[in-house]
Amino acid sequence: MNSRSTISIAYDHPNTTQTSCSTAHAWAKRPREPEPEEKVALIANIKRMLKEQDAVLVSHYYVHPDLQDLAEATGGIVSDSLDMANFSHQHPAKTIVVAGVRFMGETAKILNPEKRVLMPDLAAECSLDLGCPADEFNAFCDAHPDRTVVVYANTSAAVKARADWMVTSSIALPIVQHLKERGEKILWAPDRHLGGYIQDKTGADMLLWQGSCIVHDEYKAQELLALKAAHPHALVLVHPESPRAVVQLADVVGSTSQLIKAAQQSIAQIFIVATDNGILHRMRTLCPDKLFLEAPTAGKGATCKSCSHCPWMAMNGLINLAEVLEKGNNEIHVDAAVIPRAVKPIQRMLDFAQMIKLPTRSIGNA
Ligand code: 13P
Ligand code: SF4
Repeated sequence: MNSRSTISIAYDHPNTTQTSCSTAHAWAKRPREPEPEEKVALIANIKRMLKEQDAVLVSHYYVHPDLQDLAEATGGIVSDSLDMANFSHQHPAKTIVVAGVRFMGETAKILNPEKRVLMPDLAAECSLDLGCPADEFNAFCDAHPDRTVVVYANTSAAVKARADWMVTSSIALPIVQHLKERGEKILWAPDRHLGGYIQDKTGADMLLWQGSCIVHDEYKAQELLALKAAHPHALVLVHPESPRAVVQLADVVGSTSQLIKAAQQSIAQIFIVATDNGILHRMRTLCPDKLFLEAPTAGKGATCKSCSHCPWMAMNGLINLAEVLEKGNNEIHVDAAVIPRAVKPIQRMLDFAQMIKLPTRSIGNA
């Protein structure tokens, strides 16, 4: 594939300054931790405003534990990208507040154009989304008109508008299997690792865009082997955005919600987790007697680059959540001309999930 199809997002350590919303900028914008008394007042204030504004909080497992707990406590949801989309589509609230990254807010808006969708920080990006600009992606699709276009949720609205299907990591396998059985050849974007994993599992004919997640890309197979050797009874849980060598060491490969379920259902007592460490809050809450260890992100002697946490997810906090509800700013807008095209691949995925009865956490079983 043309190398122009890959955009590298440089790693930076917290507190360095840059102007665009690079990882350094994201780390620098991470909201400060409120003091204990301030935190109690913020939570009470947010709960009041959610009620007054007929708003629901929808959080991802990677955001700050305070926001995950608040979403659960206020009748919202904390879950993976598929459930977040499904839940926000079904919920009757007039305002949806998305604690996550921008593509999640955009998906909620595309599915609910009549609603107000707010986010604590609109600059919360995703390296997969950034690494797949719509103009280059359109050129890639134009060059392969015989292929069914399947895009991951972690893309812009404009990229979704060009797709036949949108998938999340919870449902990518059955959808690609279904397309393969129909004899379709696939153009896949943007995550090369997830695409490669699906290709390995299904044997489908897939042409892969070469994007990657800056967090999962950092897990190291060699170091993981060493940790496994130190904990021979540990179960290894891996998100499929991780490199193939890491996936090959997994006992369970799955989306965030599938990994949490595996931790709950397994009789193992120790788990090594290769996905953003924001997920550990939920795992430890649901399985207080089990031990969860972070998979290593750096080789021997190297400095930590990602520290197993997404810098853009880290931009969500109680302080900016309260502020956005107070001011009503940070509203997600998606080009009205794009919505009718972008909604089709998303709706197709939701309908498929319903058809195969994929367990989702939606209203009624949240
Ligand atoms: P899930 O849909 O598995 O929660 O993944 C979203 C994501 O961004 C993983 O990095
Ligand atoms: Fe994107 Fe990776 Fe962050 Fe998920 S963890 S939002 S894939 S950069």
